[in-house]
Amino acid sequence: MKLKQNSSNKLFTRAQELIPGGIFGHYKFAVREEGPKFFSKARDAYFWDIDGNKYLDLICGWGPMILGYNNPIIDKAAQTQYDLGNTVSIASPVMLELAETLVDMIDIAEWTLFGKNGGDSTQLAVMVAREETSKSKILKIKDGYHGANGWMQNKENPGIIDSDSDEVISVSWNSIEEFDEAISNFSNEIACFISSPYDHPTSRDSSLPSSGYWQHIQNKCNEKNIVIIVDDVRTGFRINLKGSHNAFNFSPDLVCLGKAMANGYPISALVGKDSLKEAANRVYFSGTQFYNSAPMAASKATLEELQRVNAIEIMNNLGNKLKIDLESTAKDFGVEMKVTGVPAMPYFRIENKEKDFHTKWTDECLSRGLYLTSYHNHFLSTAHTESDITQIVSIASEALDSILK
Ligand SMILES: Cc1ncc(COP(=O)(O)O)c(C=O)c1O
Repeated sequence: MKLKQNSSNKLFTRAQELIPGGIFGHYKFAVREEGPKFFSKARDAYFWDIDGNKYLDLICGWGPMILGYNNPIIDKAAQTQYDLGNTVSIASPVMLELAETLVDMIDIAEWTLFGKNGGDSTQLAVMVAREETSKSKILKIKDGYHGANGWMQNKENPGIIDSDSDEVISVSWNSIEEFDEAISNFSNEIACFISSPYDHPTSRDSSLPSSGYWQHIQNKCNEKNIVIIVDDVRTGFRINLKGSHNAFNFSPDLVCLGKAMANGYPISALVGKDSLKEAANRVYFSGTQFYNSAPMAASKATLEELQRVNAIEIMNNLGNKLKIDLESTAKDFGVEMKVTGVPAMPYFRIENKEKDFHTKWTDECLSRGLYLTSYHNHFLSTAHTESDITQIVSIASEALDSILK
């Protein structure tokens, strides 16, 4: 099927004159030749492109949308604060209200600091850990994504120099052997271990922690004075509203939050245990927009709404249904669809087929009004419904039918 995309293509040509590459950062990977390039509007779990095509969205703005696009409750909370003032020379009390909400919600949180993007909270977390331990090295998972600062990127990436990762040690996910080896080689230099609560790499299946993995990490880190940082930027509020680590029974020192915490309004947070509060107080980390009060009001409303509607149960039910139905539909076509990760963040892969086959399948889904990707996990929201899941499975099956013909 062919998508109507004249306006999108015309505007993208103009964008290439004004913006290097036409689009930047991770949105660059999302733009496909045959696909929408600019949206005109969004509502609930849907968006429309500038050619008038409507999409059921399984990407949710790459995570932030969790209660539906233009959720009236969240938008009203933000608007009320905008009307009072957004960026003013001193902070608004809404900052404290949000801090109280986060400290009440996230079990390890005894204090919080705010930023704009997830990368702010991961950068700040590492600085706090270094200040607390007087050590410099960062132990992380190979290919674990924590943002776009120098130490977070692969050495090979353009603009990155070797010394950006001089203090970074990477180990394979779920490998206790590699972790222990790094600890025995460098424990006097390692300030922190930073990882997502489970592995959700690009272009590979997601992988949950093996039994005892986090408990081993926790024991070793406690013994060696290494700060445990959970990067909950992507997973936050989609697994457990007390912090995703609760699903895996361990207790980190710092938790980085972002993406879904304000349903799309720009804000991120670092929360931590009391033992790190003084170090957090000493570290200087700031940004002109860190104090915007409308996103803080939006975040408080989002966190309250997530609790009120029992968001985790809604997304788990939808995600479990999607996994079962999609895997069984694929089987009807003689194809094995692997759905990995947690229910609210499914990663799809078609077993024993080239990547090209998967990309063709996602293109066929796209042309039928389902927005998904071939290389990244997807996101569910409370705005998705059971009938959306039925529609996703039906589009997925039509798309398989068309490429297997
Ligand atoms: C696990 C994780 N950490 C950190 C980040 C960085 O967040 P941001 O892009 O908001 O800076 C991301 C972004 O995708 C992420 O997925």
